[in-house]
Amino acid sequence: MAAEQICVSRSPEETQAIAEALAPALLPGDIVALSGDLGAGKTAFVQGAARGLGVKERVTSPTFVIVREYQGRVPVLHVDVYRLGNLRELVELGYEEFLDPAWVVFIEWGDAVDALLPDEWLEVELRREGDEERRVVFRAHGREWGRRLAGVRERTASWKAAV
Ligand SMILES: Nc1ncnc2c1ncn2[C@@H]1O[C@H](COP(=O)(O)OP(=O)(O)OP(=O)(O)O)[C@@H](O)[C@H]1O
Ligand SMILES: [Mg+2]
Repeated sequence: MAAEQICVSRSPEETQAIAEALAPALLPGDIVALSGDLGAGKTAFVQGAARGLGVKERVTSPTFVIVREYQGRVPVLHVDVYRLGNLRELVELGYEEFLDPAWVVFIEWGDAVDALLPDEWLEVELRREGDEERRVVFRAHGREWGRRLAGVRERTASWKAAV
């Protein structure tokens, strides 16, 4: 069975609160890849996580600039690969630098870059269930994240889906 935690969010604020609860579990070098349809709440999730990481600045969608940096308790990188045509473009953009151990990196449309991700990463899938309802699925990739997911489960327990 995949190591997962499934949460239910009923508003953008709640998605941010779930993400904020994840933040204390994040360490420099971590990669969080977000998948989910347009408007599912990937950017909303990063906004909450960044707040939890001490970012005071407003986090906006990096769709048109591809990557934005923020300074929090740790440096935060927010990447959106939606507009990239292929993986080569991402590599040319300096993808290797995204793997710098100093950053916590959030990648929207992470499933598009699965092949480039290191062994250890946290997947966050946003699933639209209705106008305001979303499922937030945390999925551990790699042994280390497999262990760390227990902490994520604890922190997000109050939003855990009933089924
Ligand atoms: N429970 C919820 N969680 C998150 N967003 C929600 C929720 N309910 C409604 N929304 C709305 O859905 C939209 C989510 O937008 P957001 O930019 O975060 O999505 P996204 O997945 O990053 O989209 P894109 O693929 O365009 O980058 C916002 O307009 C937000 O108000
Ligand atoms: Mg977005």
